[in-house]
Amino acid sequence: MGLKLKNVLPIFVFMLLASTAKAQPAALDVTSAKYGGKPDSDITQALEKAWTDACASTTPSKIFVPKGTFKFVGTTFKGPCKAAIEFQLQGTLQAPVDGSQLPKDDTWIGFDHVDGLTLSGGGTFDGQGAESWKNNDCNKNRQCKSKHINLRLNFLTNLKILDVTSKDSKNFHVNVFKCEKVEIKGFTVSAPKESMNTDGIHIGRSTGINIIDTTIGTGDDCISIGDGTKDIIVTNVTCGPGHGIAIGSLGRYPEEEPVSGINIKNCTLTDTTNGVRIKTWPDSPKDGTASDIHFEDITMVNVGNPILIDQEYCPWNECKKGVPSKVKISNVSFKNIKGTCTDPVAVKLVCTQGMPCENVELSDIDFKYTGNKGPITSVCSNVKPTINRVPQPLACATSAAAAAPAAAAAAPAPAAAAAAAAAAAPAAAPAAPAPA
Ligand SMILES: *[C@@H]1O[C@H](CO)[C@@H](O)[C@H](O)[C@H]1NC(C)=O
Ligand SMILES: *[C@@H]1O[C@H](CO)[C@@H](O)[C@H](O)[C@H]1NC(C)=O
Ligand SMILES: *[C@@H]1O[C@H](CO)[C@@H](O)[C@H](O)[C@H]1NC(C)=O
Repeated sequence: MGLKLKNVLPIFVFMLLASTAKAQPAALDVTSAKYGGKPDSDITQALEKAWTDACASTTPSKIFVPKGTFKFVGTTFKGPCKAAIEFQLQGTLQAPVDGSQLPKDDTWIGFDHVDGLTLSGGGTFDGQGAESWKNNDCNKNRQCKSKHINLRLNFLTNLKILDVTSKDSKNFHVNVFKCEKVEIKGFTVSAPKESMNTDGIHIGRSTGINIIDTTIGTGDDCISIGDGTKDIIVTNVTCGPGHGIAIGSLGRYPEEEPVSGINIKNCTLTDTTNGVRIKTWPDSPKDGTASDIHFEDITMVNVGNPILIDQEYCPWNECKKGVPSKVKISNVSFKNIKGTCTDPVAVKLVCTQGMPCENVELSDIDFKYTGNKGPITSVCSNVKPTINRVPQPLACATSAAAAAPAAAAAAPAPAAAAAAAAAAAPAAAPAAPAPA
């Protein structure tokens, strides 16, 4: 026995060394003589050249940006590539402050049609968005500019985003579209609460997404999940400031696909305008569905509306209110969600008329209201949830009709827009698919 092990061990060690050596690709350092990138100057060309080499490599490769600050006007790194690529960013990439200097209107950094991309390294993608937020009129103007997304991830498979930061994006921080098998771990999103339209991670038409151990503070939804998205797990994510974690908005455009299999677990939301919500537009152009959506083990600290299904979502009066939403919501659970709220309507489940929410569960819910606008309460309409261990005021204490004025007064930011224009709202105008 002893003899055998002695003989085998060196071979094993040799194989181990050989395999780790093989797994460690040579780094394409953008500051090397070959690429010529220099700190504090623009490295767009260096990065583009390194990408071309990495993408042509038949073995896995690594693009390396060392510590330091580098300017980058932006580009879309295109695949398909011949092997996996790690983009290791230790330093900071800075976008131009002036959005008109970026080559594309809707993207700062894009990755397109790549299999096996990893973003890593502890560095920061800094969108320098403060100027753009000032000029953002997307709440009034559907043709608005300011659409530069920090990281636009289209048609990627086996994507990993590990230990990097997205800071001050001009618009959404990360937009995941038509991706499969995505792991986002140790990711940080940082922007002030006043920054408009800066959703942390927006996911659309994608499947198999894991978001774990991630910290998001921004001016819009921390995570928003759009149509055609399936099999999402969000665990150990902290959100705040921001607008919370949202499914939707859904039911606005004609070609939307179902949403299903969404699990949000073990998260903490602090100082957000909403907690966990599902939002759909009235007057949907066609039937849709959202099902198998579960929120569990969530702590709310000073959150506006911690639990919310809103099928009358109509910010800036851009829809025909009163015409019911046609998105069917079913198999939804809210379990073990507790904490403090800043709006007396702590639980609001407003489902659509003629298409009630089905199979909704509220279990182990408890909130303390920290404000002084009356007692804590809940509103439900077109839904009969299963209720376990929920204090009476939070267990569908009122129906939407009775509580409408209170709910309206308590509605989050978008309702601040003028109510007068409702009748004239151009609901049909199909804009670029950039859901708020
Ligand atoms: C949760 O995520 C944070 C980073 O956001 C990390 O520091 C912490 O260890 C994670 N907790 C668990 C239980 O995994
Ligand atoms: C949830 O968070 C707690 C405390 O941070 C941690 O102990 C636990 O492992 C987490 N559970 C999951 C499933 O991540
Ligand atoms: C809802 O759940 C039930 C069983 O729990 C299942 O039979 C049904 O197919 C589900 N509906 C949807 C739309 O997922």
